[in-house]
Amino acid sequence: MEDKGIPSEQIYQMLRKYKEKDLTHRSGRILGSMCTCPHPVGVKAYSMFLESNLGDPGLFPGTKALEDEVIIMLGEILGKKDAYGHIITGGTEANLMAMRAARNSSGIKDPEIIVPKSAHFSFKKAAEMLKLDLKMADLDQEYKMDISSVEDLISNKTVAVVGVAGTTELGKIDPISDLSRICLENDIYLHVDAAFGGYSIPFLKDIGYDLPKFDFTLPGVSSITIDPHKMGLAPIPTGGILFRERKYLEAMAIETPYLTEDLQSTVVGTRTGAATAATWALLKHMGREGYAEVSKKCMEITSILAEGVEKAGFELITNPELNIVAFHSSEIPVEKLAQKLEDKGWAVSLASYPRAIRIIVMPHLKVEHIEAFLVDLESIK
Ligand SMILES: Cc1ncc(COP(=O)(O)O)c(C=O)c1O
Repeated sequence: MEDKGIPSEQIYQMLRKYKEKDLTHRSGRILGSMCTCPHPVGVKAYSMFLESNLGDPGLFPGTKALEDEVIIMLGEILGKKDAYGHIITGGTEANLMAMRAARNSSGIKDPEIIVPKSAHFSFKKAAEMLKLDLKMADLDQEYKMDISSVEDLISNKTVAVVGVAGTTELGKIDPISDLSRICLENDIYLHVDAAFGGYSIPFLKDIGYDLPKFDFTLPGVSSITIDPHKMGLAPIPTGGILFRERKYLEAMAIETPYLTEDLQSTVVGTRTGAATAATWALLKHMGREGYAEVSKKCMEITSILAEGVEKAGFELITNPELNIVAFHSSEIPVEKLAQKLEDKGWAVSLASYPRAIRIIVMPHLKVEHIEAFLVDLESIK
């Protein structure tokens, strides 16, 4: 650290040098991320609330009112206007909170949770931190959670079952209706991880896409993760967790002796209000139609990409249900393929099961990016 501070202009110049090394979403080269260019309305709203701390809401009642309204709006999107929840850092924290709520409210000793093999690794973190025994349910032929495997794994120690609406690697929607029925029958907490699909499935359904139910309209669903910083176009870090009943927040409440609120259920203490302001602004600005348009475009580009991949002689792992395309080649190992694509400037990612190149068609990807990618892909074959 310097003894004497450096003038601001010089600092910005130094920062620009570092920034030049980063990839940008705008370049269209990031193909393997669930993040995207934040929408300018969200960025402006975010910057207006940089000093507000929702960890101490009595000092920021305006921001707290925004959070309450956001939870109502997200609840509407997810089939229950009067849900309870918070805007937090992302899907990992949301899933951690859901597992904590399920464990704490169960009173079961040596608790177990059941997640599909396709679940995000945040459940491994949650299991480790909360001392939960993690049981992995098999997937069916469409890479969705296999219901009979779930039934086999349920025991008198099961505190939660998790279904995913928009899996991280393949964008698949687990059979949440069946999980809802099974969890009701067995009196087990059901969490739906819709970090990715929560901001697209409801809007795609609005405009006629035939996608299954996954939300609070299914009576067994206890909580839902929904991430504004993925398909919601909010700046990172912005996640959302919604609970059907207040008792789940209460089951995690810790006394906060020196703050303006008495109890706190979130993992973090100091919590930015900026993420909430951005989410509020974007929900109001985009409306259902705006978000439907964004998801529709992504789905259309997904179809173009999937078709192009097949035409180029590669094999799709599965038909895309949401805006993710995964493929492999019978001739080139995926690691090698990924390397060749990287050499051509494409930042793809790898799916682990099955091993595949995975492309998430996020809103920053335009048709021209995908066309350029397909030209390079064909040249690799
Ligand atoms: C389905 C799902 N859940 C949770 C997460 C974790 O979200 P985050 O990276 O915002 O913590 C992801 C991230 O990709 C995800 O795809």
